[in-house]
Amino acid sequence: MKFFIDTADVREIKDLAATGMVDGVTTNPSLVAKTGRNFLDVVAEICEIVDGPVSAEVTATDFETMLTEGRKLSKLADNVAVKVPLTWDGLKTCKTLSDDGILVNVTLCFSPAQALLAAKAGAAFISPFVGRLDDIATDGMGLISEIRQIYDNYEALTTEILVASVRHPRHVIDSAKMGADVVTVPPSVLRALISHPLTDKGLAAFLADWAKTGQSIL
Ligand code: E4P
Repeated sequence: MKFFIDTADVREIKDLAATGMVDGVTTNPSLVAKTGRNFLDVVAEICEIVDGPVSAEVTATDFETMLTEGRKLSKLADNVAVKVPLTWDGLKTCKTLSDDGILVNVTLCFSPAQALLAAKAGAAFISPFVGRLDDIATDGMGLISEIRQIYDNYEALTTEILVASVRHPRHVIDSAKMGADVVTVPPSVLRALISHPLTDKGLAAFLADWAKTGQSIL
């Protein structure tokens, strides 16, 4: 399963890319707004740091303008994935850009029917938002399971399931168990994946015993 980082913070991306765990990046207009920086500059900079897909979202809502925006974003770097919302205009844009060989990430997916439409439109990625479904007392991970089942029924549906709106490590583990292709995680969740109190306790005990030997490996 691939790990994407869900942030537009270049400092965080550089820091985490150094761990070798970052296969791509997702951004959205809210994440870009938080940086206070120019959108096109941020996307271009992220694309230089990370080799994998970097999602950059269109902000128009009509087909013609979305297409123009999408084409402009795709020219920033070879690894840009144009992100479009799950609307009819978004799906039309997805189809046109995908036919041109551009990676498209269809975002704001909240139902299996929507995921099916995105796959038929040629999306490279579908982004189901599990955390926002959990927020309204719906089973976010249940959606991932349903999409996995649907896509697996048809060889022609090659869209990758990119689990989004991830809030905690359990979402990551469940995504892996369900066979999701990608999870996009906030930096804090990626960092939390390594934590285990028994690792900390065990390391402290080993180091304490080693200190008693008075030895050094170097
Ligand atoms: C990623 O592509 C999404 O935009 C993001 O995961 C949304 O997360 P949120 O629900 O925490 O805003």
